[in-house]
Amino acid sequence: MSLSKLRRRLRRTLPDAQLELVELPKCRGLKLALINADYPQGPLQPEVMRAVISEPAYWSFCWGSGLALAQRLMTGRQDVRGLTVLDLGSGSGVAGIAAALAGAGRVIACDIDKDACLATAVNAEINGVAIDVIDDLTNLGRRADLVLLADMLYDRANFGLIDLVKNVGQKVLIADSRIKELSRDDFELIDETEARTMPNLGEFDEFRQVRFFSSRD
Ligand SMILES: C[S@@+](CC[C@H](N)C(=O)[O-])C[C@H]1O[C@@H](n2cnc3c(N)ncnc32)[C@H](O)[C@@H]1O
Repeated sequence: MSLSKLRRRLRRTLPDAQLELVELPKCRGLKLALINADYPQGPLQPEVMRAVISEPAYWSFCWGSGLALAQRLMTGRQDVRGLTVLDLGSGSGVAGIAAALAGAGRVIACDIDKDACLATAVNAEINGVAIDVIDDLTNLGRRADLVLLADMLYDRANFGLIDLVKNVGQKVLIADSRIKELSRDDFELIDETEARTMPNLGEFDEFRQVRFFSSRD
């Protein structure tokens, strides 16, 4: 897998952007290739703006919820040792990579964006872990012990994914900074913490509070 190919993918939408290797805080050395901290921000040329909107490179950021979840896994507050873990909506691959580094038996990452699949594979290689990457959940092949959803509920349409993943995983752990309540009896709020998207997107303070919701047994 190649970092230069990933760089080319980013430049298709943001021609002046770079990728830089960034070490995540409190993640025991986990590194990701992320968009440069002084990435081009508005005013963008109309054709660049159109490209950014039609193909958002979500994978080039480590979202606050993904970072918080990675920290939870890396500090052992969520024990994944030996488990088969599915990271759905993997983006950069942050949660799945943290699970692999924390001793998961097998990690599968899934993202509908092919560039995110490449980013996950490149970042896994950078961190020296093996992750199976798929772009369609129907290719999962086997049931997961734990499904991770980090920063996936930014779109109401994705709420349907919760029932979907309950069918493919024994347990589901959601990390999200945009919702305060899940309003589902089959999930409970188990913890919350603060984390910020990297590089800084200048999000409102309220979106720095990441909540963890776990499916009930
Ligand atoms: C905001 S990013 C979060 C990425 C990563 N989990 C993190 O926390 O940094 C959301 C990701 O979910 C992916 N996604 C959206 N809908 C999806 C779906 N139905 N199945 C799989 N991935 C999806 C997007 O392509 C994007 O990469």
